[in-house]
Amino acid sequence: MSDNTHILLPVDLAKRFDLYGPVHKGIRRAQMHLLVRVGAHDFTDAAATENLLADLRRMLFLSAGHLAHEEQHIHDALAASGEAERLEEQHDGHEAAFAVLERLLNDIETAPATARIALGRQFYLEYSHFIGEDLLHMHEEETVAWPMLCARYSDADLMGIEQRIVGSIPPEKAMAFMALMMPALNPQERFGMLSGMKAGAPAEMFNAVMDTAVKPALAAAEFAALEQRLGLAA
Ligand SMILES: [Fe+2]
Repeated sequence: MSDNTHILLPVDLAKRFDLYGPVHKGIRRAQMHLLVRVGAHDFTDAAATENLLADLRRMLFLSAGHLAHEEQHIHDALAASGEAERLEEQHDGHEAAFAVLERLLNDIETAPATARIALGRQFYLEYSHFIGEDLLHMHEEETVAWPMLCARYSDADLMGIEQRIVGSIPPEKAMAFMALMMPALNPQERFGMLSGMKAGAPAEMFNAVMDTAVKPALAAAEFAALEQRLGLAA
């Protein structure tokens, strides 16, 4: 990690269009929720374990996808700074961690019930280690890489990068990322993202996002407040 990672994001950058912030908030929230869930999980309950394994595999799939989006669409924009190489090295570490975590999930799935509790504890520790590294990595992206990108490119250029990322994600996966982000964002960020989509995307797509990804991910009161703010409330 860079020596600069303790530096707070300057206020003027915090106000700019934010490429990393929303998706990283979603990833932090989902991973930490899952870690807490694994810690409290009853590995002798076969049906609940099956659900947990499915949710963990789904999160690892989204995390791996997120790394790929950054590598394909952002790292070139950081060329010649040394930062892209540092981030890629960290991504390599994450990919190695994913392989270990996936192996442990397979072990939990195939182990006799009596061995699952110990394997579950091992997974808990490995996942907490990965999340610790990922928290530092995402902090570096937001406080070191992001100011570099803002110094090099306009908001319009950076929005172009985001549009290329969004355009490369299949609809079902895009919905999963929206569902990940929505409960992690504050009301202003949620409104900002969805008002932009309401203005720019076809109505059927916007409605599908609201019904499929946003509504199920928020508490009823949060969703009602968002609808109100978007001018959708009856
Ligand atoms: Fe990253």
